[in-house]
Amino acid sequence: MTAPLIQVKNLSTWYPIRRGILARTVGHVKAVNNVNLTIGAGETVGLVGESGCGKTTLGRTIIGLEKATTGTISFRGADLTVERTRETRRQIQMIFQDPATSLNPRMTICEIVTEGMAAHGMLGADEPSAPRAGAGERPLPYRGADRRSARDEAALKLLHDVGLDETALHRYPFEFSGGQRQRISVARALSLRPSLIICDEAVSALDVSVQAQVINLLLDLKDKYNLSYLFISHDLSVVKFISDRIAVMYLGHIVEEGDAAAIIENPKHPYTQALISAIPVPGVERKKRQILKGELPSPAKPPPGCPFHTRCPYAMPICKEIFPDMKPAEGRNVACHLMDVGKKKA
Ligand SMILES: Nc1ncnc2c1ncn2[C@@H]1O[C@H](COP(=O)(O)OP(=O)(O)OP(=O)(O)O)[C@@H](O)[C@H]1O
Ligand code: SF4
Ligand SMILES: [Mg+2]
Repeated sequence: MTAPLIQVKNLSTWYPIRRGILARTVGHVKAVNNVNLTIGAGETVGLVGESGCGKTTLGRTIIGLEKATTGTISFRGADLTVERTRETRRQIQMIFQDPATSLNPRMTICEIVTEGMAAHGMLGADEPSAPRAGAGERPLPYRGADRRSARDEAALKLLHDVGLDETALHRYPFEFSGGQRQRISVARALSLRPSLIICDEAVSALDVSVQAQVINLLLDLKDKYNLSYLFISHDLSVVKFISDRIAVMYLGHIVEEGDAAAIIENPKHPYTQALISAIPVPGVERKKRQILKGELPSPAKPPPGCPFHTRCPYAMPICKEIFPDMKPAEGRNVACHLMDVGKKKA
């Protein structure tokens, strides 16, 4: 792995459960529970797991949309749970699943993709350093035309980078397809020259062929803009194409984490094995699918011991009592008591 850009340590994000007219806190949804995760500079980390396992909450906590309950998020050495400067806010951007709701329908594409730049003083003609009228002087001529052209130029460059042209500039989001709208979301995120983009189910709502186009675009932009990605998806078959490393999440915990190819080829955690066996392989007769029995337990009342023991085909008595710590195993980290059994036998 390259030098760490983000280091998440012992991070928990719990949502309070409130009841009654006094809204007393009667418990917590432990959406993210004691998570450790590192994203290196220029690296793509895929975060996978079933619906409700805490992927979005982890992404939202890293970007600051949710408050961490405990733990630290270090960005280039600065702890974001203590302070987020304007500069660190600019450096981390997020793309959401549904651009139809995340793009303002009343703004033109030009306004959408340059809004953040204007707010951060990144559009030349909008800089506060532009000459101002002194006391007693006549006001300077209206500079709106300059501002517009600076904005247009900046937007045009971004649109070209995401595969759209100038005809998009003064149109509105509803005039574009789902894939094009997601390209506009990517352009908006890129406009602030971030180091990290968190893509939360960014291609999940798109057709398979359009998914591939947007993933290829993200891969091209990664090199061009020197980006890191946290690529969140419930779909391992998508994550495996884009990720350098993969982190598998279950009920608020990371249960396996390491090199993407190693995990896809040879998953060690029983939950990862079940996820991978469910990936359809075109042209090849489906391997014996490992169907996960039972429901995902509630993160408000996680089971004791290993969080996966209620559904694990290999559960042992110890699994119901003792939480398995993350340990190195065959070039990745795994949280499963089976790893100790293997070592004892060896
Ligand atoms: N604002 C909230 N208040 C209370 N509980 C929440 C809130 N947001 C999420 N949760 C709960 O936290 C848990 C994790 O949710 P989260 O959205 O992070 O999961 P996810 O892995 O992103 O799921 P999906 O794949 O469906 O997007 C779920 O049980 C969810 O119901
Ligand atoms: S610790 Fe036990 S229950 Fe958990 S995944 Fe490993 S074998 Fe299964
Ligand atoms: Mg989600």
